[in-house]
Amino acid sequence: MQGDDPGLLGSGGEMTDGGKIPYTRPSITDVEIGYALDAAAHGWGEHCYDYIERFEKGFADHVGVSHAVSTSSATGALHLGLSALGVGPGDEVIVPDITWIASAAPAVHLGATVRFADIDPVTWCVDPDSVESLITEKTRAVVAVHLYGNPCDVVRLAEICEKWHIALIEDAAEGIGTVAGGHRAGGLGHFSVFSFHGTKTVTTGEGGMLLTNDRSLAESVRVLNNHGRAPGRAADFAPERIGYKYRMSNLQAALGLGQLERIEELVARKKQILELYRERLSGLSCVRLNMCRDGDSLGAWMPTVECLEPTGISNQYLRTAFLDGGIDARVVFPSLSTLPVFRLSADVCPVARGFAVRAINLPSYHDMSVAEIDRVCTVLRGAVVGHARLR
Ligand SMILES: Cc1ncc(COP(=O)(O)O)c(C=O)c1O
Repeated sequence: MQGDDPGLLGSGGEMTDGGKIPYTRPSITDVEIGYALDAAAHGWGEHCYDYIERFEKGFADHVGVSHAVSTSSATGALHLGLSALGVGPGDEVIVPDITWIASAAPAVHLGATVRFADIDPVTWCVDPDSVESLITEKTRAVVAVHLYGNPCDVVRLAEICEKWHIALIEDAAEGIGTVAGGHRAGGLGHFSVFSFHGTKTVTTGEGGMLLTNDRSLAESVRVLNNHGRAPGRAADFAPERIGYKYRMSNLQAALGLGQLERIEELVARKKQILELYRERLSGLSCVRLNMCRDGDSLGAWMPTVECLEPTGISNQYLRTAFLDGGIDARVVFPSLSTLPVFRLSADVCPVARGFAVRAINLPSYHDMSVAEIDRVCTVLRGAVVGHARLR
């Protein structure tokens, strides 16, 4: 049961009203199951790349980019892309202070130094002014993240990167359905990466994709992703360089192709859920939900509420209230510069640090019912009112 009808049953067929409300859950129909069964039965030997080729071509067409390399994760795709750009020791890579650590870890693995830029208080995405303030002669790339499906200011970031001759990379892991600066997320950067992890709007269980309009970059990434073997030389077992192995399987791509055929429906439902939350919470002036600049469009991967600073409400307080109400809401990513693994006291990002303790993601799976959305809003409203009484 999917999509337009905000029904009462979960995709697993179980009743969800009154029970625990999960944070996310994929939407899998007979379309995906049919392709996965076909891949399992027939996708071997000379057919072992059939679904991979169809999924790569279809996804690249959807975003409007010429070359696609499917991977086992977005993390792997970012590692491959940065490696193909030659990022290494002595280089600096700028990453937003609020994102999943996967946006930063590949640069660290390559020996580069990560610098954390603050976020914009309205979009929660990386602040271009903060990015520009961090650029040095060592900067090689900026990783621009479409956080929770909110469009980041790719147009300004592209101008900055062009001016300083550095690469703009779009981390669109969360950006399916997002439109930024007139492009689908992932369509403007030197390369972009997407995630098809089980929590994402489109899933292959685990999986990712690197997209680029740069043919030679795509070729380097393909070689790197095949243990450094050039195309057509796979049977030689004689790699020309040390590479990686972050490949997607044909079975995963079969699931992905099914999801891709439903992408408009999957994205529309995510957007609808965000707007249902927005309508219901519009009277609660002390919180705000995902926002974007005029002309951009929210992908709505993760509806998120930020409590305004004067309320004094923390996301841990809200998380406890949600858990007590049987709702699995997640606090947002921490400010990465504060994590002991980075210990970057030089990169002080005040907006990010405030957001990290005041914002929480709300549940949003495709077949979430209106009754479940109401329940989440009732618990949120009760927690906010209860906090005001305690003060
Ligand atoms: C912003 C961001 N970047 C990168 C990743 C990494 O994706 P994957 O789990 O496919 O490696 C994620 C995954 O959650 C993410 O949210």
